[in-house]
Order: sequence, then C-alpha cells, then structure tokens
Amino acid sequence: MPNLFSPFTLKDVSLRNRIAIPPMCQYSAQDGLSNDWHQIHYAGLARGGAGLVIVEATAVSPEGRISPEDLGLWSDDHIEGLARIAASIKAAGAVPGIQIAHAGRKASANRPWDGDDHIPESDPRGWQTIAPSAIAYGENLSRVPRAMTLADIERVKADFAAAARRARQAGFEWLELHYAHGYLAQSFFSAHSNQRDDQYGGSLEGRSRFPLETLAAVREVWPENLPLTARFGVIEYDGRDEDTVAESIELIRNMRKGGLDLLNVSANFVIPDVNIPWATPAFLAPLAERVRREAGLPVASAWGIDDPQIANRVVEDEQMDLVMIGRAHLADPHYTFSLAKTLEQPRPTWILPAPYAHWLERYRGAAA
Ligand SMILES: Cc1cc2nc3c(=O)[nH]c(=O)nc-3n(C[C@H](O)[C@H](O)[C@H](O)COP(=O)(O)O)c2cc1C
Repeated sequence: MPNLFSPFTLKDVSLRNRIAIPPMCQYSAQDGLSNDWHQIHYAGLARGGAGLVIVEATAVSPEGRISPEDLGLWSDDHIEGLARIAASIKAAGAVPGIQIAHAGRKASANRPWDGDDHIPESDPRGWQTIAPSAIAYGENLSRVPRAMTLADIERVKADFAAAARRARQAGFEWLELHYAHGYLAQSFFSAHSNQRDDQYGGSLEGRSRFPLETLAAVREVWPENLPLTARFGVIEYDGRDEDTVAESIELIRNMRKGGLDLLNVSANFVIPDVNIPWATPAFLAPLAERVRREAGLPVASAWGIDDPQIANRVVEDEQMDLVMIGRAHLADPHYTFSLAKTLEQPRPTWILPAPYAHWLERYRGAAA
C-alpha cells in the first residue's frame, strides 16, 4: 500500500514522494518575464523535499493573464528565465512542472493585495477580456467580456500549443493545463458562462469541444513520455452538483482518451455566491476518489490537506495518487520535511539537501 512518502511514477517521470506543491501565482512578473523573486521562491520550495513543484499559472497570451504581473510563455523571450527555474527545481531533487493558463473573463484584474478587482476600462494597465459568451463573472470582476469568434478560439488553441512547446524547451517535465477556477476552459464547460449557440456551446459535447480540442493541440507538441495533466473543477457547489459532477466525469473520460495522464481535481469558481465547504479539511478528497474510480485515471487534489495524518490517509485510502499542499509550503518551504518528521519517516533530514541535512543529522539529539 503506498503512503505519502512512497515514490510515484507517471510515464517516464518518477517523483520521490506523493507531495506536490500546486501552482500559486506570485503576481510579481513584468511583461510575463520571471525575475529573482521567482528564482529564489521556486528553488526554496523544491529544497523543502516535495516530489513535484508546479510553477504558477503562466499565461499563454498577454490577454490571458489574470493580472498584469502574471508570468507568461507567449514569447521565446520567456524561456530563458523559466529554464533557470526548472533547472533549480530539478537540482533540488523535485520534478519541475508548470501550469499554462488563459484567464478568460477573469483576466485584467488587480493583484489580490491591490483589490482583486477588474482594472477599470479607462486604465491603460487593463485590456478587453474574452470568453465564450459576453457574460461577466460579477461582484469584483464585473467587466463584460467580448464573446470569442471562431478565429479567437483557433488562436487560443494555438497559443496553448506554442506555450506547451516553450515549456518543454525550458526543461519542464510535467505540464498542467489550467482548466479550473472559472478561467477560460472552465467557462467553456459551464452552462453558467457558456451560452453559445454554435458548435462550442449548448450540449455537453459542445461545451466539451474547447477543452478537448485544446488538449489535442497540446498533445501534438508535448512529448508522449512526459506527464500531460490538467487542473479542472468538477463541482460548482451551486445546488446542481450531482449533474455537474456527472458531466465533468464524462469530460474527464474523454480527456483520458485524448491523452491526459492525470487530473488535478478542483472546484469550478465560475459563479460567485456558492456554498464551498472551506472549513472541512480535504473537502475534495471524496470527489477526487470518485474521479479516480469512474474516469479511470490517476488524480491529485488540494484544498486544506495540510494535516499530516489526513495527507497520509488520502494516499493510503487510495483517494488520491498525489497530495497538493500549497499555503503550508508558503508558510514553511520545508513543510514536507516537517511532514516526514511527524510521520516518522526514517531519516527525515535526508529530505533536505546535504548542506542542511548533514548538520541536522550530525547534531541530532545534541541539544537535548
Ligand atoms: C497565493 C496563491 C496563488 C494561487 N495561484 C494559483 C494558480 O496559479 N493556479 C491554480 O490553479 N491555483 C492557484 N491557487 C490555488 C492553489 O493551487 C491551491 O489549490 C490552494 O492554495 C489550496 O491548497 P492549500 O489549502 O494547500 O493551500 C493559488 C493559491 C494561493 C494561496
């Protein structure tokens, strides 16, 4: 039976344990370019011992950025900085992953600590957003997007493929498509945000077309021997959950047939005013297990799994193949090392690189 510290192999990639650091935007880039902040941040996270570190939502086009400060991969100019980040993650013993993204109608927003709202149309820092239909998210993100033309759809699919190719050139070994959290692909799938009357809307098949065709475009350029994954919301918490979950599992089965290797199970966030059970630890674990069983592919999931016993149990109970732990690693980049100590792994210090591990081993017990 695997536990949190068992290795995990997917395609030709082996993780040293089942702990992954999920993508977390740093809102600290300029023109999509990474800088010292990102370099230090990601190397530090990888040194803490996780098996996989996924670089934050990285935009496939300027208009696909959540905020003007997002990372990007729409130009070859972005490759060099990201290549340094991927190499530093790998040098620390973790697998370097990256999430590629288009924020759709949630794009063109101020950073969370600057309001988290849409940049006013009069402000030159912002831009016209695009989405399946001209329907705003609402609340803080009230800007009405432009409904995408068929030419827009073709361009965005090509942008995803080009970003995937650049991600590989930068040395990433794990690719995650951002199909969750109310961003572009999730908003194509949800009838709340997609009211198109052409082949990209309406029926389950129509609403699945954009995510499936984008996956196919990426599959063409991303190497067969490396994991191609997606993060996708399977539940909106809007009271119509059984229908949403059933439809989502149908799409995930089709994504598996289209070459997807693992799903990072998340929530939709397509509409505000929903009842998300934030206070329940690991609240997505039962759904992750259901996706794993019914769609027949490995799964990961996040959200409130920062308790050592729970993190270990969701793996032992085969609810998840990988556990995504985000904020606990922001608070303590060596959180994976703390987990190893709490779960009494043999020689937990060797989770850390030798320049730290040696000293922690040597004086173990000396201070007592
Ligand atoms: C600062 C921050 C930035 C985030 N950025 C992203 C992102 O780029 N892509 C994404 O899919 N989720 C993003 N998320 C969600 C996290 O990946 C994760 O799902 C969330 O923090 C819940 O896991 P946790 O309870 O272990 O923190 C972000 C979360 C935080 C705290």
